[in-house]
Amino acid sequence: MQIGPYKLNNRLILAPMAGVTDRPFRQLCKRLGAGMAVSEMVSSNSLLWGSEKTRRRANHEGETEPRSVQIAGADPAMMADAARHNADNGAQIIDINMGCPAKKVCNVMAGSALLQDEPLVGRILEAVVGAVDVPVTLKIRTGWDTAHRNALTVARIAESAGIQALAIHGRTRACAYRGEAEYDTIAAVKAAVGIPVIANGDVTTAHKARFVLEHTGADAVMIGRAAQGRPWIFREIEHYLATGRHLPAPALGEIRDILLDHLDNLYAFYGEYTGVRIARKHISWYSKGQRHGAAFRQAVNQVESAAEQLRMVRDFFAGLEAGEELAA
Ligand SMILES: Cc1cc2nc3c(=O)[nH]c(=O)nc-3n(C[C@H](O)[C@H](O)[C@H](O)COP(=O)(O)O)c2cc1C
Repeated sequence: MQIGPYKLNNRLILAPMAGVTDRPFRQLCKRLGAGMAVSEMVSSNSLLWGSEKTRRRANHEGETEPRSVQIAGADPAMMADAARHNADNGAQIIDINMGCPAKKVCNVMAGSALLQDEPLVGRILEAVVGAVDVPVTLKIRTGWDTAHRNALTVARIAESAGIQALAIHGRTRACAYRGEAEYDTIAAVKAAVGIPVIANGDVTTAHKARFVLEHTGADAVMIGRAAQGRPWIFREIEHYLATGRHLPAPALGEIRDILLDHLDNLYAFYGEYTGVRIARKHISWYSKGQRHGAAFRQAVNQVESAAEQLRMVRDFFAGLEAGEELAA
């Protein structure tokens, strides 16, 4: 899988998720096998660039290459400025978000709402591609609603504007996250364009990843929600694609160590106050499906200090390991 000058180590990409794919999580997923990880989206509104949140989103210190930064907006000139600003601040790939159905984004006619206005899509893509020397990629849904699946048209617009890879989430904007993602539209786009196509939506297991790659002919798969609390999914898929065999699930001790390391990185990145709060959702995801997970989550969400949060996580895993030994 190649994007401009960057050859990815494999065909597995972490999806951009606002509030989730911060630098610590991207680094973790890359360490555990993601070939690329796209940043949380950054607004094209330059008034917001000075805010702490946006500055943090644009922080790539020590991040494994290639560094892909997603931008969102609906005004071609502002999007071009945003692309230049992020490229000047370390982005090696600029990704344009036309795939997010979030109200906050759609109401200002950005994200997937843009798919309704094909001429505007063309103007935005041309403006961004013309503004930077780094490769520009695009993320879309299959269309506006099931009666308007215009991914193929948008893909052709993208290719002729100079977009270097296209990620497609196999749902329309109207579908939000309901129902199952469909992969036929992605297959049709892959067959029709020459640029790399990345298939996205509901890839939750190694088996599903292989199915989606085979069904669509896509160059890579992009994984979002299934990596929450399970960042090792990338190495599991990589192993399965290479060997046809499943890796054993990680032992409790390894999950604990991954989580503790993740928490330390969150505290270092955000500072203790915000880090502890951001960490809560990750701890919830890691503990999902574990014994006594619900009670643990309720208790750990009350905690305000890093030391106490770490202690509770260690105790929780010690309890799980003791339970395993008893059962053995
Ligand atoms: C919490 C959350 C935040 C998201 N934020 C973004 C975003 O900022 N930009 C974007 O293009 N897509 C965003 N998405 C959509 C994902 O990138 C992805 O397309 C979608 O979750 C489907 O993939 P999945 O089934 O593997 O999760 C977000 C999804 C979730 C769950």
